[in-house]
Amino acid sequence: MEGFQEELVSALREVVSNSHWQCVGEKRSFKATCTKLFSEDGEHLVLIHTTDDKFYAMDSSCPHEGGPLEQGDIEELCDGRLALTCPWHYFEFCLDDGSSSTGLQNQVYEVKVYEGKVYIQTQNALSLTPWKETPCTVSVNSEPAAISQGSDAESTLSYWACKILSTADPQEKVKLTQHVQTLWESGKISEIGQMEPPAQPQRKENLIIVQPGRIKRGKGGTLSSRIALLHSMANIEQWAIDLSWDIIARFAHFRLCTGETLPRDFFSDFVKVAGDEAKHYSLLEKRLAELDSNFGALPVHNGLWQSAADTAHDLLGRLAIVHMVHEARGLDVHPQTMQRFSTQGDDSSVRILEVIYTDEITHVAAGLKWFTYICGKEQRDCLSTFHELVPLYFKGYLKPPFNTEGRRSAGMSEEWYLTLVKPS
Ligand code: FES
Ligand SMILES: [Fe+2]
Ligand SMILES: [Fe+2]
Repeated sequence: MEGFQEELVSALREVVSNSHWQCVGEKRSFKATCTKLFSEDGEHLVLIHTTDDKFYAMDSSCPHEGGPLEQGDIEELCDGRLALTCPWHYFEFCLDDGSSSTGLQNQVYEVKVYEGKVYIQTQNALSLTPWKETPCTVSVNSEPAAISQGSDAESTLSYWACKILSTADPQEKVKLTQHVQTLWESGKISEIGQMEPPAQPQRKENLIIVQPGRIKRGKGGTLSSRIALLHSMANIEQWAIDLSWDIIARFAHFRLCTGETLPRDFFSDFVKVAGDEAKHYSLLEKRLAELDSNFGALPVHNGLWQSAADTAHDLLGRLAIVHMVHEARGLDVHPQTMQRFSTQGDDSSVRILEVIYTDEITHVAAGLKWFTYICGKEQRDCLSTFHELVPLYFKGYLKPPFNTEGRRSAGMSEEWYLTLVKPS
């Protein structure tokens, strides 16, 4: 009891003397397990109130792909500590120190409760409501684009891109992607054409979209957790197929400020990316079947499309966020993911991940190539343009650790991303 009082007194002293303690409200008002707190610097926090009446705080944007940790689940780790699990790909972050078995690290904050009020140690002002509305989200029509059946339209790449985006069945999406890739590469489709893509790709009706806080999975290391991981990766690949076709259709008529259109190589590169993503999806789906599961057996999330919607009007923003931030992040977590499967002797999954990793390096490289191409043509400084665009469309800072070697193989040196890390 004495120790507890001393702790309270020292907490009070710190609260009084240190302006970095923010009072976020009455303890009794935090009844939910997770409460999002909006930070003035855009790096929002999640305040966690556990069933044993303890409080924790960490960044709410998942260090993996920015998933909403405030919609996550609390899980007990093998060592008895508690972790917050991201609802997107189930990466877990220890409440005590923000560490994750994936090798990623989330920022945690000290929390104290004094005289019925909750205090968090951070330099930034916090609020229970947003500071201002997100400026970049465009309002989009959720109806799929009508696919014209005209014979002229059917011979264009844009027509097929829209058709694939409007195809809900992932296997059909894969088949069509491979078919169109063959037609494009053999020159049987040569026109880019122009057609408005759907605001959001179609998904099968029976696919369960994630209900925040409802996902339960086995402890790390079990077969069910491996299946959950493969399933979430298949979901990413399905979105990645659509992202490739969307950049083709949405920016088919893009003009540089010089008035030039994009060269044919741009479209060839993203047809190739779409083909790779289709291959990745198929490999993962096949592996799920070998493990007696299937795609659709678990809930999925559709948060990845938000970046596409945010950058629907901005090609440089799209290249920066989807390919140079999200896909580069995929490279960061790949070595640990492979390690997870290899530790459990799942060599078949490891072989698939190796194929994916090699291809994904080329996808980051494609993003970088076209980002620098456009900047060069428009006489913009590549690095400063990138450093301006990322905070505009990506919530929060980029978080280490980075796969420096993988990023370098894609042509992305540290100067691209280190300045986007939160200053310590
Ligand atoms: S695990 Fe959180 S975004 Fe992927
Ligand atoms: Fe992929
Ligand atoms: Fe990719």
